[in-house]
Amino acid sequence: MGKDFVREILKERNVDEIWMIARRGDRLDAMAAKEPGRLRAFTLDLTEMSSFDELKAVLAEEKPQILYLVNSAGAGRIGRVDEIDEKEHAFVVDINVRALTCMSRICLPYLKKGSRIIQLCSGSSFLPQPEFASYAASKAYVRSFSRALGQELKKYGVTVTSVCPGPVKTEFFEAAGKEIAPAKKGFLVESKDVVKQAMKDAKSGKALSIYGTSMKLVHLAGKILPTRVVLSVMDVLMTD
Ligand SMILES: NC(=O)c1ccc[n+]([C@@H]2O[C@H](COP(=O)([O-])OP(=O)(O)OC[C@H]3O[C@@H](n4cnc5c(N)ncnc54)[C@H](OP(=O)(O)O)[C@@H]3O)[C@@H](O)[C@H]2O)c1
Repeated sequence: MGKDFVREILKERNVDEIWMIARRGDRLDAMAAKEPGRLRAFTLDLTEMSSFDELKAVLAEEKPQILYLVNSAGAGRIGRVDEIDEKEHAFVVDINVRALTCMSRICLPYLKKGSRIIQLCSGSSFLPQPEFASYAASKAYVRSFSRALGQELKKYGVTVTSVCPGPVKTEFFEAAGKEIAPAKKGFLVESKDVVKQAMKDAKSGKALSIYGTSMKLVHLAGKILPTRVVLSVMDVLMTD
C-alpha cells in the first residue's frame, strides 16, 4: 500500500519530494529512478533503533516541512500464538508498534498546520482475533496511540487518521506465514481503492478511514457486541 500512497501523493502539487523507506532498497531505487528529483529512497530496517538516529540526523540537517507522514510499514503472522516463534511475534510488535511510534515522534518537529499523519492500522484493531492475536493487538495499539496523538495535535491543526481496512490484495499475506482464512478471502479489496479513500479521509481530518460497507459493519459489531460473542464468530472465520 505504501507504493499506492506514493502514487497518490505524487499528484499533490504542494509536495516537492517524497521520502520512501523500506529494507529492499532495490525496489525503492527502481521507483525513484522513474520520478527523478521527486522520490528519495532510504534503505532502512525500521525495527532497528539506529534507523531512527539516521533519519533524525537527515531531518535535522534538511529541516523539511512534512505535509504527509504515512506510516505504512507493517506485518502480521497468522496462526495460533504457540505456532508462531516468539521472534516473529516480537517482529510484529516492533514494526507495527515501536517503529510507528518512533517515526511519529521524530517527525513531530517538522509538521505544520494542515499536515496529515496517516497510520496504517487495520480492521483487526476493532476486535481481538484468535489465530492473528499479536497482529490484532498491535493494531489496537496503533488506533489508541493515533487517537491520543490526534487529540494532542489538534491545537496545531495537524490531523491523525487511522486507516482500518479489512484484507487488501498486497504482499502482506505472502509474508504472513499462512494463507488468508477462506472466509476472509471474499472480503479482499484493491490497495489503490483503500489508499484513495484514506487520502480523502485524511484531507477531511477524519480520525478513522474505513473502506467498504463490510468493514464498517465489523467496526459497528466490535462496538456493540459483547467480546465473547465476537470471539466465537472470529473462531469460525479464522478456521481453515
Ligand atoms: N494487506 C492487508 O490485508 C492489510 C489489511 C489491513 C492493514 N494492513 C496494514 O497496511 C500496512 C501496509 O501493508 P501492505 O498490505 O502494503 O503489506 P506489504 O505489501 O507486505 O508491505 C509492507 C511494507 O512494509 C515494509 N516493511 C516491512 N518490514 C519493514 C522493516 N522492518 N523496515 C522497513 N520497512 C519494512 C516492506 O518493505 P521491505 O520488506 O522491503 O522492508 C513493505 O514495503 C501494514 O501496516 C499492514 O499491517 C494491511
